[in-house]
Amino acid sequence: MRAERHTVLHSWCIQAQWDAPTVVGGSGARLFLADGRQVLDMSSLAECSNLGHQHPKLVEAVRAQAERLCFITNAWGAEPRAKLAEMLLERSGFAGGRVFFTLGGADANEHAVKIVRQAMHKPRGIVIARERSYHGSTHLAMALSGDSRTRTLVDPDAFGVSHVEPPYAYRCPFGSGSDAECGELAAAAVAERIDHFGVPGVAAVFMEPNAGSNGIVAPDTFWPALRRVTRERDVPLVADEVMSGFGRCGEWFAWQRYGEEGRPDMMTLAKGLTGAVLPLGAVVLSPAIADRVEHEMLYTGLTYCGHPLSCAAGVAALEAYAEEGLIERSRRLGAVLLQELENLRRRHAVIGDVRGGHGLFAVLELVTDRATREPLAPWPQGHPALKALVDDAMAAGVSFATRGNLILVAPPLVIRERELADALALLDRLLARHFPAD
Ligand SMILES: Cc1ncc(COP(=O)(O)O)c(C=O)c1O
Repeated sequence: MRAERHTVLHSWCIQAQWDAPTVVGGSGARLFLADGRQVLDMSSLAECSNLGHQHPKLVEAVRAQAERLCFITNAWGAEPRAKLAEMLLERSGFAGGRVFFTLGGADANEHAVKIVRQAMHKPRGIVIARERSYHGSTHLAMALSGDSRTRTLVDPDAFGVSHVEPPYAYRCPFGSGSDAECGELAAAAVAERIDHFGVPGVAAVFMEPNAGSNGIVAPDTFWPALRRVTRERDVPLVADEVMSGFGRCGEWFAWQRYGEEGRPDMMTLAKGLTGAVLPLGAVVLSPAIADRVEHEMLYTGLTYCGHPLSCAAGVAALEAYAEEGLIERSRRLGAVLLQELENLRRRHAVIGDVRGGHGLFAVLELVTDRATREPLAPWPQGHPALKALVDDAMAAGVSFATRGNLILVAPPLVIRERELADALALLDRLLARHFPAD
C-alpha cells in the first residue's frame, strides 16, 4: 500500500510537508500509533473528541444501529433522529422548537444562514459576524469567518456578510484597558452596525459565544450585552456552538453560562454532538423561529442529513455526558487547568495572556515582551520555537495544538487528572527549554 502522504489531499496543510504518524486505535484521552507508541491528546483532535477515543458506549451504539438500519433519507422517519432531536431540544430548553441535522459544523452554519433569512423574510439579508472567528471552510462559512488565513479567498460582501471588531480584551480593538468594558464595547459595535444597515436589511447576528479556534474568549460582559442589543432591535442571534458546546466551556451550551439572559434564537452544533465518532451537525431553532418556517417550503437538504448511524452516536454521546457527569467535570477541571496555566504564566515571561478555563478549553497567548504585548509572531504566523516545543512534546508522547502564537489546551473531558497534571508539567519544562528567561 502506498503511504497516505503520496495519495491523499490533506486539509489545512502544505501537501509536500504532510508527514503524520498513522493512528490505529485509542482509549480515553490516548491515541495508539501504528508504530506502537501512545500519544496523550491535549486538543481532543480538532477540539471535537470530547468523550475521548473509542468510548465503548458510542462504539456499541453505532454497532447496534448498523445492525438495525444503516441509512434512510429524510423522506422517512428514523428512530435515533427523532430521539436525538428531542434530547437536544430538552437539553437546550428549546422545547417546541425544531432541529435541522447536517453533516458537520460548516454546513450547519450554512443552513442556519439560509433558515434564518427565510424565517425573517430577508432572503438577501445581511449577516453580521466578527473578525477573529471561525465558522468552517465551505464558501459561505469562510465568508462568515473572520479568518485572516482565508480572507483573500472569499468576498464576504458577495455573501451578504459584514464583520465587526471582536471582543479581544487582551488587544482590545476599541482601545479599552478593561476586559469588562471591552466586551460591552464589542456588543455596542454590533448594535452600531445593525443601525448602520437598518434593521430591515439585517437578517441575523452570528457569533461564537466562547471557545473558538481563533483564540478569542470573550469577557463575560459580551454575550449578555450582545443578546440585549440584538433583542432590542428584533434581530435574531445565532450562537455557533460547534466548538463551545457539549461541555467544552463547562455547560451543555456555552450561552447557558448566562442563563435565560443569554439564550440565542438559534444555535449550530457539531463536533461534541457525537463526540466526533461519526460526522453530524445540527441547527437548533427556537419555537418562534420554527413557527416562522412551519408552513413554508424548505428548499434545502443534503442526502445524508440526519443519518441514523450518526444520530445513534449522538444519542449515546448525550447519554454519556449526562451519565458520567462530564459537563460538571469539565467545569471543575477547567478551573484547575486555568489555575495551573496562571502558575505557568508567573514562571514564563513568554506567556502574555491566559484565557478560558470555564471548562476544558484554555488559550495561552505568547509574546516577546509582556509590557508591550508584542506578539511572538505576527498573527496568524507561527514561530519556529513554538514548533520545536510542539515537536518535543510529541516526542515525549503528548500532542498540543497551536494556532499562530497561541497554544490551545482542550483535552477530552474524560482525561485523567494525573494525565492532565503530567501534560502541564511537560509544558512547563518545554517552555523553560524553548523560551528561557534572558
Ligand atoms: C466554531 C466553529 N464553527 C464551525 C466549525 C466548522 O465545523 P466543521 O469542521 O465540522 O465543518 C468549527 C471547526 O473548527 C468551529 O470551531
